[in-house]
Amino acid sequence: MQIFLDSADSKEIEKWLQQGVIDGLTTNPSIMFKDAVYDIEEGARRLCSLLGDRPVSVEVTTNNPNEMVGQARAFAQWAPNIVVKIPVINENGDSCLGVMSALSRDGIPVNATAILSFNQAMLAAKAGATYVSIFAGRIADEGNDPAIVIRNTRTWLDDWQIASKIIVGSIRAVGDIQSAALAGAHILTIPPQFLSKMLDHKYTRETVRQFNQDAEKALAGISKMSARTAVS
Ligand code: E4P
Repeated sequence: MQIFLDSADSKEIEKWLQQGVIDGLTTNPSIMFKDAVYDIEEGARRLCSLLGDRPVSVEVTTNNPNEMVGQARAFAQWAPNIVVKIPVINENGDSCLGVMSALSRDGIPVNATAILSFNQAMLAAKAGATYVSIFAGRIADEGNDPAIVIRNTRTWLDDWQIASKIIVGSIRAVGDIQSAALAGAHILTIPPQFLSKMLDHKYTRETVRQFNQDAEKALAGISKMSARTAVS
């Protein structure tokens, strides 16, 4: 399973890349805005360079499916590791599957985003999306179980040997990460604050403190013994 960072914050990205656990990056216009990346092209180019050859998802900013194709083709020129995020439908409910199909025929990797159901995931995969992004938190917001959507999608992709990979995003708690990992996500995209929470544990701190204290005591013991040997 891969871990992507769901962020546009360069400091956090550098920090977690250095820890060796990040396989890619996802953004969306809200994340860019929150992390003060106002110029999408400049920001996307910078983030793509930070990530090396790892994939970086950048979302189109228009509601018009024809304009999405043009934007996506422009984005794809910015860096070789760009993946273009296309919503499954636009805000009017118009299909964006044709956009995904045209881009995948051009060889531009597509991340089908804002997926809230198994049906949407199947259609996006059929349209050629490289990634299908299932929004766990937003599925749960509506009282549904994201683990069921993730598991059904994974089973269907495996049964039919369809290459699309499931990214689970919209993480709201560390528990969402565990459930999505066990439900069959290929990739989890995690906001940096949850990576810190996954790692920390008060009893691990206490355990390490105990080991450090005993190591200090042992060192003090060695010094005492060599002082005694020097006197005698
Ligand atoms: C990931 O690709 C999504 O853009 C992101 O996780 C959405 O999260 P949200 O539901 O908190 O907006």
